[in-house]
Amino acid sequence: MTDKSVVHFDVEDGIGVITIDYPPVNALGPGVSDGILAALDKGEADPNVTAFVMIGAGRTFIAGADIRQFGKARPNPTRRTYDALDQGKKPVVAAIHGYALGGGLENALACHYRIAVPSAKVGLPEVQIGILPGGGGTQRLPRIVGPKIALDMIVSGRHVPADEAKALGIIDEIVPGKDLRSEAIMYAKSIAGKRPLPRVRDRSEKLGEAKTDPGMFDAARKQFARRMRGQPAPEKCIQAVEAACTQPFDEGVATERRLFGELENTPEAKALRYAFFSEREIARIPTLPKDLKTPEIKTMAVVGAGTMGGGIAMSFADAGMPVKLVDASSEVLERGIARIRDNYATSVKRGSLSQEEMAKRMSLITPVTTMEEIGDADAVIEAVFERMDVKKEVFKQLDAVMKPEAFLFTNTSALDIDQIASVTKRPEKVAGTHYFVPANVMKLFEVVNASKTAPETLAAAMKLGRDINKISGYAGNCDGFAANRSRIPFTLEQNLMVEEGALPHQIDKVMEDFGYPVGPFKVNDMSGLDISYDTRKRRKAADPSYRMLPIPDGLVEAGRVGLKAGKGWYRYEKGDRTPHVDPEVEALIKMVAAQNNIEQRSFTEEEILHRLLFGSINEFCKIIEEGKAIRASDLDVMWLHGFGFPRYRGGLMFWGDTIGAREVYNQIASWHQRYGKRWEPSALLRDTAEKGGKLTELKAERLR
Ligand code: 3HC
Repeated sequence: MTDKSVVHFDVEDGIGVITIDYPPVNALGPGVSDGILAALDKGEADPNVTAFVMIGAGRTFIAGADIRQFGKARPNPTRRTYDALDQGKKPVVAAIHGYALGGGLENALACHYRIAVPSAKVGLPEVQIGILPGGGGTQRLPRIVGPKIALDMIVSGRHVPADEAKALGIIDEIVPGKDLRSEAIMYAKSIAGKRPLPRVRDRSEKLGEAKTDPGMFDAARKQFARRMRGQPAPEKCIQAVEAACTQPFDEGVATERRLFGELENTPEAKALRYAFFSEREIARIPTLPKDLKTPEIKTMAVVGAGTMGGGIAMSFADAGMPVKLVDASSEVLERGIARIRDNYATSVKRGSLSQEEMAKRMSLITPVTTMEEIGDADAVIEAVFERMDVKKEVFKQLDAVMKPEAFLFTNTSALDIDQIASVTKRPEKVAGTHYFVPANVMKLFEVVNASKTAPETLAAAMKLGRDINKISGYAGNCDGFAANRSRIPFTLEQNLMVEEGALPHQIDKVMEDFGYPVGPFKVNDMSGLDISYDTRKRRKAADPSYRMLPIPDGLVEAGRVGLKAGKGWYRYEKGDRTPHVDPEVEALIKMVAAQNNIEQRSFTEEEILHRLLFGSINEFCKIIEEGKAIRASDLDVMWLHGFGFPRYRGGLMFWGDTIGAREVYNQIASWHQRYGKRWEPSALLRDTAEKGGKLTELKAERLR
């Protein structure tokens, strides 16, 4: 065998067992495919071996090809496991636990039989990293499940649970999985003598579906049009499945391989690979001691049953964690619980949640009206009104009622956590856990490290986010923390450009063409213009030098507060959420600009895009420079999961690198000359530009 350490082969009871042992997820890294081939050769040559079992060591079967190898030169294999498996003379049983994804499922599909434990998941998720299944998956899967279901699985990339996979015929049998190896050996013995060997490549009965329903491919194009926008991979996935229906197997495989080659190095595939690894890197906090024992949080409490508190409580119930929701007002509490129930009921109506699951989640949320009743929870998240005196009062009470080892977290989006912690006797147990709206949906969980937060507290908060299937990201304690702070320039320039003559629908179109699902002005209309207007007024009252924004202010003052009023930046018909461009808005913009002596001009699409995004790149650099974020890629992940930044662009800094740090810096420096202080370049950006460095490689020297 080429590499004994990553693939083991042994014979038990006449069955050759091929064990992939390449932690953590048995990706098809160096030596794995060669190891499988060598094991097959050995077993084929051994007269005592009547059949094979292919199984994964550790937590999973095979998670797919080694993504780290993509984009790098590598030798073209002379033999492929997929061919060797289904052309073998002895049957091979794939025994699946954990995941069989991408190349993992493709190897399993090339086996003659597939069995799985009930918790296993299978799928071809390659599209999510900008490529397509390149190990025959686009040719074999349609032969089992038919092209229609194959299209759905391959173009969405979704993970299919074992019971569904069994119903679809992908899995032949579900086994208890108490001892998968023994169960697989038993199964292999039961089929060892059967001939002919069932080979997926020889099946064609399901492919006829495409003849009776030739429109299915265009229907898939339509169905996935939104997701496909700006990305070549979904279209090529469809072409590959189409080839399975129109070409003989080997030709179809050649087509798949050609299409795979066309995708591997596209900018989108590179960006998506970067996003994949950045989402894993963000979990690492270099300052935490390696041997730190992370305390486990098993029960939660949430203070404040408003929209935010309710959404936070749902985020725990969704993950199966019991949570007490406390509000001193029983009326607010009742309304909060009713809102939660309505939210779940909508999901049930849409078919994304079962009635049973809804009942289970509701039963995990316990409404209570006194603080004393939450005292035994392992941690609490405060989600009350965003005012320092209110928060301090709540924290004093929490400090008094919560058990001594409990963590006290705040969901503030901007207030100084050191000040909040200062009213408790356990500031080391206080940290920020900042959710994004809607709290039960948005994946980002920003963990704010205040100056007295203990390493255990930080680690526990980071883990809590991951436990509820969110992405935890580190931020230092500063105004707006990392995510919101980095978005301020975006929002400001959005409004200032309108003053200068760019139209809201023009800006929205540029951002939608860039890949945002919805442009920023449409988002403003959905969330309502009145909230930010009130914030601006409060700021102005506190600081007379604060500059109001005359255009959105004018809209609010004219009653145009957004979708809920039927008018905002756009106009809406009754009962319809479609935005229509409204000449009245244009007239208002012109009038306000004239009143404020602001000269209006025209904008190119590039200028709009750069004005919106460069300011935030500059702010990213300042945040890293000040040690308030660990690394550039963390901020990129925050934008992907907090603000809907288009994933196939990788992230803001990844996109910035496609333009070049020097180019970005030069533009910012020139806007600094023209517009003044708000465009003052970050020193870190300047240095990076001067050295010809990369934005994605920026890291904080020291966290503060
Ligand atoms: N290649 C390389 N590394 C991989 C990998 C892969 N396919 N899948 C996971 N890893 C690494 C992760 O980067 C992580 O590394 P780290 O510990 O150094 O950060 C480690 O394995 C563990 O991964 P997760 O933290 O994601 O573990 P989870 O248990 O949360 O999730 C998983 C497991 C669902 C398998 C998830 O890792 C995953 O979705 N992996 C990618 C699956 C995939 O896209 N497969 C298709 C690959 S392309 C392909 O097969 C092409 C073929 O058609 C030819």
